[in-house]
Amino acid sequence: MTAAVELEPNPLFEGLRSARVPAPCCVVIFGASGDLTRRKLVPALYALAAEGTLPAGFTVIGAGRTHMSDEEFRNTMRDDVQRFGRLPVDDDVWSAFAQGLRYVTYHLEARDGLDPVRRALDEADRTRGTARNRVIYFSVPSTAVLLLAERLHAAGLHEDSRSSFCRVVIEKPFGRDLETARELNRSLHQFFREDQIYRIDHYLGKESVQNLLVFRFANGIFEPLWNRQYIDHVQITVAESMGIEARGAYYEQAGALRDIVQNHIMQLMAIVGMEPMPNFQAETVRDEKVKLLRAVRPIHPDDALSHTVRGQYAGGWVDGERVPGYREEKDVAPGSLRETYVAMKVDIDNWRWAGTPFYLRTGKRLVKRATEILIQFRRVPHSPFGGSIAMPMGGLPPDAIDPNLLVLRIQPEEGITLRFSAKVPGQAMRIRSVNMDFLYGSAFLKQSPEAYERLLLDCMLGDATLFAREDEVEEAWRLCTAILDGWRAHPPDQAHCPNYEAGTWGPPEADAFMARDGRTWHRP
Ligand code: BG6
Repeated sequence: MTAAVELEPNPLFEGLRSARVPAPCCVVIFGASGDLTRRKLVPALYALAAEGTLPAGFTVIGAGRTHMSDEEFRNTMRDDVQRFGRLPVDDDVWSAFAQGLRYVTYHLEARDGLDPVRRALDEADRTRGTARNRVIYFSVPSTAVLLLAERLHAAGLHEDSRSSFCRVVIEKPFGRDLETARELNRSLHQFFREDQIYRIDHYLGKESVQNLLVFRFANGIFEPLWNRQYIDHVQITVAESMGIEARGAYYEQAGALRDIVQNHIMQLMAIVGMEPMPNFQAETVRDEKVKLLRAVRPIHPDDALSHTVRGQYAGGWVDGERVPGYREEKDVAPGSLRETYVAMKVDIDNWRWAGTPFYLRTGKRLVKRATEILIQFRRVPHSPFGGSIAMPMGGLPPDAIDPNLLVLRIQPEEGITLRFSAKVPGQAMRIRSVNMDFLYGSAFLKQSPEAYERLLLDCMLGDATLFAREDEVEEAWRLCTAILDGWRAHPPDQAHCPNYEAGTWGPPEADAFMARDGRTWHRP
């Protein structure tokens, strides 16, 4: 692991320098002309530069299949940082950052197709002092991941030493199911050690997700209640109002379960459900997450339908705009049965959670964008209050009093709400739920960094805490693969697909699914 080092300060960044500055290094991005590079990666690296978090000599080598000069790459990236970045472009910061921006063309088909990349890396080591420290970002289609790993290995670009590091960042999808994920892990290990592999899940880089760990383990008051005795159930919602954008071809292969549940939602569930870790080291945190995922009760494929609800959106209205149905999107088959919505119930077989289910759901084209975790506490066992207008005699039954809720809002409007009962002012004993709110925006005036800023920096620092380990990914696939198998054996009826209108909260079956357990979905 490489410790943060103190370097010659760059006068431009002086005063902004963070305590966590990595050793001089080079980030190579394969797939440099792609969307992720333009919208997320380079804007995140620029923000790190602007905040004084990058080492002297920091270099980015964009590697793409199309031809482009360094100058063209720099100009395109500057426009993209301007357009997609969190911070406005500052001329001085940009020119210092751009000095380290290079572009090379590579070919995977040819055995020597990575030579230009190797030459650019050698040159960066010589001229910018990057000391053979490399972060190699695979922003390439999943079909190209293994070949790229193999070529890097053949070119000797996998090597590290006591004094230099080489780490690879792999984007999702990490396999299509348990078998392919295992195979991918096995194959990648031929070329890189596990500690060199950083499987990125951008949800883990979100401030509000990291705060879940702090909320749980840096507060004494919630942890004693965080179990089956006090919590009735948990709901995790990742709702999106947008559709599939221009990603029809990808989404036809993926669907909501692979796209969101297997990674983002499983990570959120692991953090909400895990046991306290003894320290904040990568392996200890990940050990606890894996333990939780291992405790998830397997769903037999034959039971997939009774444990889940699938949905697909039809056309409708979102934010006052008419939007097409999934089947009308580009690159989607007219009779596609691909799911754009999933709801499911997960049981966790351990002492903390036995009998307290987790309900998970995600969907495209829902009413609004909202990711949140809802903890619904058990109702009071008995209500002593009499004299209410509703029940003048004999007090209120416990189910007339709403249960306490804790809502952890991941995005947007990051924050936490605790809902509890209060007396309505007046002569009668009337009870109503009220909210106690914490809003990131008002508590901390500082803007939160983007997820990719945090994750890229962590990778440069050799901190894998917020990246998924091989066993985590496989455990998450274990559950999802059984569901996929069950769904494949029982495809949805064409007559019931699509089954929800864009701009609604999903298929009516999802409400019935909750009602069966005597519960309702929380409306974010
Ligand atoms: C990605 C999915 O991983 O996460 C997208 O592929 C989804 O389909 C996106 O829209 C959501 O991310 P965020 O950060 O906007 O919640």
